[in-house]
Amino acid sequence: MQDHNGDLELIITKDGSHSLFNPALNETYHSTHGAVQESRYVFLLQGLDEFLLRNNAKEINVFEVGLGTGLNALLTIEWAQKNNVRVNYDSIEAFPISVAQAKALNYVELIGGKDTKAWSELIHKLDWEVKHTITDTFTFQKIKNRIENHQLDESKYDVIFFDAFAPSKQIEMWQLDILLKLFNCMKPNAVFVTYCAQGQLKRNLKSLGLTVETLEGPPGKKEMVRAIKI
Ligand SMILES: C[S@@+](CC[C@H](N)C(=O)[O-])C[C@H]1O[C@@H](n2cnc3c(N)ncnc32)[C@H](O)[C@@H]1O
Repeated sequence: MQDHNGDLELIITKDGSHSLFNPALNETYHSTHGAVQESRYVFLLQGLDEFLLRNNAKEINVFEVGLGTGLNALLTIEWAQKNNVRVNYDSIEAFPISVAQAKALNYVELIGGKDTKAWSELIHKLDWEVKHTITDTFTFQKIKNRIENHQLDESKYDVIFFDAFAPSKQIEMWQLDILLKLFNCMKPNAVFVTYCAQGQLKRNLKSLGLTVETLEGPPGKKEMVRAIKI
């Protein structure tokens, strides 16, 4: 994939929240049925809530593939505060959007809350490759690299947010070498979630030894995948 972020277009999804459209890939950053809705359902409900249910943890290490608009990170700051769970959130992004593109998004007004604007700005302005403390319950590190070139620590993460562009648009992100890298950085009991439910993805995850569940998808999407490292 090449960097075409100068051409990104702001779109409105069906729940009223913005997303970005990448014309070069002919692909959106979120479901057109609702960006905030998708993020809350796939990553927070089926990822973080599920991990908490199974593990009753006080601290969770999250790794996100594709920081993009920062929406998942922003919602996770709020989630960590509400659940009183410390989240250490690392997110990799090869092609960051600009601060101006981030500012145009309507997430702050839709999510509400007195600190959301400040958190949203920090997500895009903070330095890369440094662990920052954003709240009492949230640390944040952005990694500016391609996932294929980045070395991940083994057994570090509890929850993986796999939010790459769809396999039909960026097939290289869904290959076994990248999934193996993610598998190796997962702790036992770690949860991997993605909005995608492609058959080949499920076969790849199973071949790595993960327990794969096909779940109902967020509104407008039939299915999604969650995989657990037992
Ligand atoms: C579906 S979007 C992510 C959406 C994001 N999580 C959000 O909430 O806005 C996919 C992201 O993966 C990034 N990306 C593409 N290729 C990548 C690579 N090789 N390594 C890391 N990130 C990549 C894209 O630039 C894009 O921001």
